[in-house]
Amino acid sequence: MLRTKIVSTGSYLPERILSNSELEKMVDTSDQWITERTGIKERRIASNDQAVSDLAFEASKLALERAQISAKDIELIIVATITGDMPVPSSGCILQDKLGAVNAAAFDINAACSGFIYGLSIANAYIKSGVYKRILLVGAEVLSKFTNWKDRNTCVLFGDGAGAVILEATDGDQGIYSVDIYSDGSFANLLNLPGGGSKNPPSPESLKNELHYLQMKGNETFKVAVKTLEQLVISTIEKNNIKSSDIKLLIPHQANLRIISATASRLGMDMSRVMVNLNKCGNTSAASIPIALDEAVTSGRIEKNDYILLEAFGGGLTWASALIKW
Ligand code: COA
Repeated sequence: MLRTKIVSTGSYLPERILSNSELEKMVDTSDQWITERTGIKERRIASNDQAVSDLAFEASKLALERAQISAKDIELIIVATITGDMPVPSSGCILQDKLGAVNAAAFDINAACSGFIYGLSIANAYIKSGVYKRILLVGAEVLSKFTNWKDRNTCVLFGDGAGAVILEATDGDQGIYSVDIYSDGSFANLLNLPGGGSKNPPSPESLKNELHYLQMKGNETFKVAVKTLEQLVISTIEKNNIKSSDIKLLIPHQANLRIISATASRLGMDMSRVMVNLNKCGNTSAASIPIALDEAVTSGRIEKNDYILLEAFGGGLTWASALIKW
C-alpha cells in the first residue's frame, strides 16, 4: 500500500534564551505563575536579522543532510507559518532559493498552531495521489516579532523556532496511517493578529491601536482546547482500531502543560509517554510539533515500527491529528 513516510527530521532554535526571571523584569509576572499556569521556563528569541526563512533554512538543511539527499531532489516545499518573512513572496519561495531547491514548487499555509499537521495532510494527499514523491515540510515561526512585550497575558507564552521533515512515498508498512484536520471559524476572535491584512491594513492608526500583535483570549481558548483535543485523540485511536496502550509516544502541540496533561490523561497515558519540551521552547505555534518530533527522534525516544500520535490546536480555530507508524 502506498504510504507517506517521514524519512528524516531537523530543527533549529535561535541562540538567545529568554528566561522567566528576565520576563519578571519586563512585565508584572512571576516565574511561579508562568511555571504553574503553563509549564514554560524559558523560550528562544530570534535575532533582529533572523526571519522565518532563516530558521526554516537551518532546520531544512539538517533534515536534508540526515536524509542524505540534495535540495535539488525536493519536488515540493510547504512552509506552515503565521509569521512569514513578508506577505509576498511566500516564505516557501524564499526558502527554496536559500536551499537551491530549484526543482521544487513552494508555498506557505496558515493554520496557526495546527499548521504542521495541516501540512502533513496536504503532503500525504499529494504523495498518495502520485503527484509528488518527495516533499519538504517545515513549521517555522518568529512569534517574538508579533508579540506585545507589554502584555503579560501573551508575552510569557510564545517562542521562536523551526522544525522540518522530509516526506517520501513508500510501499512499506511504515508511514502516515491517518491525518485529520478540522476548523471552526466562528471562534476566530479567540486568537488573532488583526493588523496588516486587507481588513486592517498597516497604518499609523493600526500601529497606535496595537493591531500588529498576537491577541488571545487565553482562558476561553484553554477550555475549548481541552474539550476538543480530548475528543480528537479518542476518535483518532478508534478510527485506526488501536488502543492508547499501542502508542509509544504522544507528541502534542506545545501550548500549555495543563492542556497536554489533560489530553494524556483522557488517553490513560502516563506522562513518561508524552513528548514535552515547552519548558525550554515555549509555544512556537506551527514549529512546535516538528521541533518536538526531532528531539524525540534524536534522543532515541522513537524506534522503528512505533506508533506515534501527533495532535494540535490553534488559531482559526483549527485542530488536527495524525497517527504515524515510525
Ligand atoms: N503573570 C501573572 N498573572 C497573569 C499573567 C502573567 N503572565 N497572565 C495573566 N495573569 C493573570 C490574569 O490577569 C488573571 O488575573 P485576574 O484573575 O486578576 O483577572 C489571572 O492571571 C488568571 O488569568 P487566566 O487567563 O484566567 O489564566 P489561565 O489559567 O487561563 O492561564 C493561559 C492563562 C494563557 C496560560 C491559558 O489560558 C492558556 O494556556 N490558554 C490556551 C492557550 C492555547 O492553547 N492556545 C491555542 C494554541 S496557541
